[in-house]
Amino acid sequence: MSTTNIQIFDTTLRDGEQVPGCKLNKAQKTVIAEQLDLLGVDIIEAGFPVSSPGDFASVEAVSKIVKNATVCGLSRSVENDIKTAAEALKYAKMPRIHTGIGTSDSHIKFKFNSNRDAIIERAVAAVRYAKSFVEDIEFYAEDAGRTDNEYLAKVCEAVIKAGATVLNIPDTTGYCLPHEYGAKIRYLKENVKGIKKATLSCHCHNDLGLATANSIEGAINGAGQIECTINGIGERAGNTALEEVVMIMKQHPNLKLDTNINTSMLYGISQLVSDNMGIYTQPNKAIVGANAFAHSSGIHQDGVIKNRGTYEIIDPKDVGVTESAIVLTARSGRAALAYRAKNVGYELTKLQLDVVYKDFLKFADLKKEINDNDIHKIMESSAIYNELR
Ligand code: KIV
Ligand code: ZN
Repeated sequence: MSTTNIQIFDTTLRDGEQVPGCKLNKAQKTVIAEQLDLLGVDIIEAGFPVSSPGDFASVEAVSKIVKNATVCGLSRSVENDIKTAAEALKYAKMPRIHTGIGTSDSHIKFKFNSNRDAIIERAVAAVRYAKSFVEDIEFYAEDAGRTDNEYLAKVCEAVIKAGATVLNIPDTTGYCLPHEYGAKIRYLKENVKGIKKATLSCHCHNDLGLATANSIEGAINGAGQIECTINGIGERAGNTALEEVVMIMKQHPNLKLDTNINTSMLYGISQLVSDNMGIYTQPNKAIVGANAFAHSSGIHQDGVIKNRGTYEIIDPKDVGVTESAIVLTARSGRAALAYRAKNVGYELTKLQLDVVYKDFLKFADLKKEINDNDIHKIMESSAIYNELR
C-alpha cells in the first residue's frame, strides 16, 4: 500500500481567531501566516473577509506575502460574502474560496427556516458563483457531523457538479464518535457520484475531546485533507490540534499517511501563536505543552536517564524542543539528582549521593521544584560532599 499525503489546512487565523480575546491584527496575522507557510501547511485559511474591514485587510495582506500555500477565505452562501472573499484573495498565488451552508435538520429548520431541497439549491448557487471568481472552491456542509448521511451525499454530489474541488465535512459541534465520523467519510467516499473529482476534508471540533481522534479516523477512511489549528485553538473547546494530527501520522508509519509539515518548527510556532493571541497553552498539552517532555517521578526519571525511549515516544528535537527535562521535586529519585548535579558540575560517588539525597529531600519538601541554584546551595551546605571532595 502506498503512502497518502494528507493536505494540512490551517485555520488558526480564522476558526482559531474566533475565540474571544484571541483577535489578531493585520501585522500579527501576517507574521503567523509567514511561519505557517514555512512550516509547510498546504492551505492557510486567513480569515472571513466580509466580517470586518480589518479582516478583509488581513486576508489581503496574507495573500500578498504567502509564497507556497494556497490562501483561503471563508464566506457564507451569500453573494456579497463570496464576492468580498474573492476581492480579498486577489493577490494570492493560489486562491481558494471556502463557502457553505448548514445541512443538518436542526440548522435547516432553526437557522434557515428552510427545507432540504432549498438548501441544496443555495449550496449549488453559491459554488457556481464562487467558481466565477476562482477555480479552487471548498464547500462546507456545516454540522455535517449531525447530518443524515444520505442527504449529505446528495449535497456533496450537487456541489461537485457545480464545481466544488474540496468537500469539508465539519463535525461542527464535536458530537461524533471516531467510528461514526470515519464511517461518514467512508460512506461519502463510496456513495457520492463524482467523488473522485473532489477531496474530502475533516474539520472537527473538540467538545468531547475527540477532535484529533475523529480527524485521524476520517483520514484513515479516505479523507485527503485535515483542517486544524495550532495548539488546537478554536471555538468553545477548540479545533483539531495541528501538532497532534501531524505527529500521529509521523509516529505511526503503519497508517501510511504523511504530511508536508516540517515538524521541527512545531514548538516555535506554538509559542508564537500563544504569545500573539495572549492565550496560555496548558502545561500538559500534547506535543507542545511545557510538560510534554518533562519527567518528574523517580521511576520515570530513572528510566529516561537509562534510555529516553522508556518513557518517551517522540524525540523532543523532532518537534523543536531542545531536550527532555528531568524536573527535580520531592518525588524524584537518586538517579535524577545525580544526573542534574552532574549537569551543573558535581560528579557524586554513590556514598556522597546517599547523603546528599537526604539533604535534597528536606529541601524539596519545602519547595515545589528544585532548580540549578538550589542544587548549588544543597551541595555547598552538604558536609559529606565537602569532606570527600
Ligand atoms: O465548524 C464549522 O462548521 C466551521 C465551518 C464554517 C467550516 O468552522
Ligand atoms: Zn469550525
